[in-house]
Amino acid sequence: MRVQVCIIGGGPSGLLLSQLLHLQGIDTVVLEKYSRDHVLGRIRAGVLERGFAELMREAQCGERMDREGEIHNGFHIAHDGVLHHVDLHKYSHGNSVTVYGQTELTRDLYEARDRLGGKLVHNAADVSLHDLASDAPHVTYRDGGREVRIDCDYVVGADGFHGVSRKSIPKDVLREYEKVYPFGWLGVLSRTKPVSPELIYVKHDRGFALCSMRSQVLSRYYIQVPLTDKPDDWSDEAFWSELRRRMPLEVAARLITGPSIEKSIAPLRSFVAEPMSYGRLFLAGDAAHIVPPTGARGLNTAASDVYYLYHAMVARYRTGDGSGLNAYSQKALARVWKAQRFSWWMTMLLHRFPDRIEYEDRLQQTEMSYLFSSETALRLLAENYVGLPF
Ligand code: FAD
Ligand code: DHB
Repeated sequence: MRVQVCIIGGGPSGLLLSQLLHLQGIDTVVLEKYSRDHVLGRIRAGVLERGFAELMREAQCGERMDREGEIHNGFHIAHDGVLHHVDLHKYSHGNSVTVYGQTELTRDLYEARDRLGGKLVHNAADVSLHDLASDAPHVTYRDGGREVRIDCDYVVGADGFHGVSRKSIPKDVLREYEKVYPFGWLGVLSRTKPVSPELIYVKHDRGFALCSMRSQVLSRYYIQVPLTDKPDDWSDEAFWSELRRRMPLEVAARLITGPSIEKSIAPLRSFVAEPMSYGRLFLAGDAAHIVPPTGARGLNTAASDVYYLYHAMVARYRTGDGSGLNAYSQKALARVWKAQRFSWWMTMLLHRFPDRIEYEDRLQQTEMSYLFSSETALRLLAENYVGLPF
């Protein structure tokens, strides 16, 4: 098979890029390691910034998101039993975020690819990338017992943190920056009414908690847990009871509990790989960078990579101008690092750090009291949470 762009990974980054390029007449194939049901079974992001939502609309995939997604003009931060409101609308020049699950937007992207007859291969095993430094790269994968070869102009690595694409860049070219946090988030999805119409981020002596949602009948809650914990260690009752203990009393009194539909633990990590391109390979999304989920930046940062890559590819195919592709890594990384900074800051502000010295605890308390005593500090928080411009 021959295509112009071979995309590795059928998560949101790969699907969105493939859909946008297809609409501009650029031929792509998406190679996904797992089945569609497996990809749609992952419960991840819930908060989308405006730039992401606009890209979904440009990809002709925004209809259900606009109908069913909820616009949130603010959220809460609770600490020491007190609930503070962060007015995103007021502090970010009228901006807001959309609450719409990654599962749903991935489903919308799959449906759009199907509608246009997009080439999408599931269960593509042993994907491997070849001749990336040449003008004629190719990708191979196994389909049952058969090896399939795809010749292409460009390869896009959108295969997430554990994918093969980043690992195809020679070690002496790639530089990796990483910070691993000593805890994870235990997440529970339940078919219950959310405890609050807006998200609540909770800093508590027992650890962080987050009250989020997917809709007015589907709640998503998280609690900070040690990395050694496993989901099976937590019965539903134990989860609800720990969540309640971390909430301000007035919130805990309103909490409606129910059976968990999904329960999983996500470790927290900050990671950046530089550069984000090598020869004819371009990395996008979690394949190149990871943030701890605290600032809801991961998927939103993937969207800015897709935006830059999409425009650079269109310029290259329309006018032969390859300058956007040459500048891609530098341009994407400038925004990636700002999202890293913000996610790290939100994580440090809100979590309990087991081995920290008392001095650092006092700094954390001061950071929090400063935030709610300064409009400038709130503006910084709001500007980053709604998403910096692409
Ligand atoms: P992925 O979603 O990881 O997709 C990569 C795809 O590539 C996968 O389908 C995978 O199966 C496939 N693949 C892997 N290896 C191969 C291979 N060798 N060959 C072929 N295919 C392969 N972000 C936000 O912006 N807002 C939030 O509110 C938010 N909340 C989060 C909450 C949690 C608990 C977690 C864990 C993450 C959250 N994120 C959030 C982050 C967000 O989910 C990720 O940033 C997003 O999934 C990145 O999309 P992606 O397409 O780049 O990578
Ligand atoms: C969700 C996840 C986040 O990391 C976040 O900051 C907000 C919401 C969620 O899954 O709903």
